[in-house]
Amino acid sequence: MTETKAFLKASLEAGKDYLRAHAPHPPANALEKPVPLMVPIRSLGANHRERIATHLLALVERDRYLRFGYLANDEQIQRYVDSLNFERDEIFGIYNRKLELLAMAHLAYAPDKNCESCAEFGVSVNKSARGRGYGARLFDRAAMHARNDGVDLMFIHALSENTAMLKIARNAGATVERDGSESEAYLRLTPPTFDTRMTEMLEEQLAQADYRIKVQAKHFRDFLASAQRVRCGAAGARPDQPA
Ligand SMILES: CC(C)(COP(=O)(O)OP(=O)(O)OC[C@H]1O[C@@H](n2cnc3c(N)ncnc32)[C@H](O)[C@@H]1OP(=O)(O)O)[C@@H](O)C(=O)NCCC(=O)NCCS
Repeated sequence: MTETKAFLKASLEAGKDYLRAHAPHPPANALEKPVPLMVPIRSLGANHRERIATHLLALVERDRYLRFGYLANDEQIQRYVDSLNFERDEIFGIYNRKLELLAMAHLAYAPDKNCESCAEFGVSVNKSARGRGYGARLFDRAAMHARNDGVDLMFIHALSENTAMLKIARNAGATVERDGSESEAYLRLTPPTFDTRMTEMLEEQLAQADYRIKVQAKHFRDFLASAQRVRCGAAGARPDQPA
């Protein structure tokens, strides 16, 4: 058991070292802003549907309004999750060590063949995980994927009051057009290069590895907790122990 624990710790540390080494270069004003640890963002498949639902259903009313453009109720959110097309679209997620989905992004491709080179971006981050750059990182990841997929234009539909979302889009170079209470941002993407393809592949592999370590570590923690419960139960059942 000690060996497994040591192995997990070593794997985790090795992963962290690697991510630190590959973190983005510090900005010019590095003294003002801490350099964030590179966040493992993985592509999600249909087997993550339940966790996606849990994440979205936890959004408070205002966030649901900002995310969907209307005040989506639980049923509407569930319908949205059930209808996610993992073959056509790309869903990205950021997990914590408890395997809770902290943030997710949906890059939706138009079903219409005439709009093949366009995609729409939507994102949400748990309240407790905001301000860490996850929204911006998901945007960059989705833009890189769209670019590698031959997409020319990435759209973001946001309410004009959504300062954070519009800031993410503007920071990434998108043009924002305001139309009253609603805004449309679009980011023109340049054709992919060998570098963008390799970067995406490497980032996805790292994120998958990070996820596998988190799964292993969670199983191990669950195992330790249940062993502890059994031990406590056995101690409580001993006749020489006080009730
Ligand atoms: C919009 C949202 C995804 C932003 O996520 P986040 O992880 O907190 O954003 P980041 O930490 O990456 O911040 C991105 C930028 O927005 C700024 N920002 C974050 N929250 C802000 C706020 N409340 N007001 C103003 N600016 C804000 C950050 O300072 C950062 O800008 P900078 O890099 O120039 O400093 C998150 O607030 C959310 O989930 N909102 C509800 C759903 C939603 O609105 N989705 C978008 C519509 S599709």
